[in-house]
Amino acid sequence: MERRNFLKAATWGIAAVAAAKGVFAADKYFPVKVDPQLFENINRVKDPMNETPLEKSHAPFITAPEAVKAGESFTVEVSVGRVLHPMGQAHWIEFIELNVGNEPAGRVDFQSMGFLSPKAMFTVVLAKEAAPEGRLTLIVHQRCNLHGYWESTKDISVA
Ligand SMILES: [Fe+2]
Repeated sequence: MERRNFLKAATWGIAAVAAAKGVFAADKYFPVKVDPQLFENINRVKDPMNETPLEKSHAPFITAPEAVKAGESFTVEVSVGRVLHPMGQAHWIEFIELNVGNEPAGRVDFQSMGFLSPKAMFTVVLAKEAAPEGRLTLIVHQRCNLHGYWESTKDISVA
């Protein structure tokens, strides 16, 4: 074998071993198969009248008053999801975050040990200027380690 061909073959061999090790490392680091499409976009319920099992257990379920008064506190409760999502070392909810309109309002982070249920309660006070047209959208995000980033919204009126 010519020296040039030997070096070429050796380089391909090293590349093949590195690629194989990479695959094994990925399998070890992510032992559970995931649907990569769930991680490409923000996931939302597609048809509220016909939620899929995945949507039922991942779309944040928001409980908040339909109408609130500026300057008075109210409670926004969030659970993931309508059917409570499991919490364990292989599959858990990483965080829940609340946005008031376009403004980030707060966030709760969860560990994977399963001590907590994926629920959060936020006490909110809105200034009149926060909703100049008398309406506002609460936007909640959550992230599941296996099923990606999810969003739900709820419109409220502010007097
Ligand atoms: Fe999940």
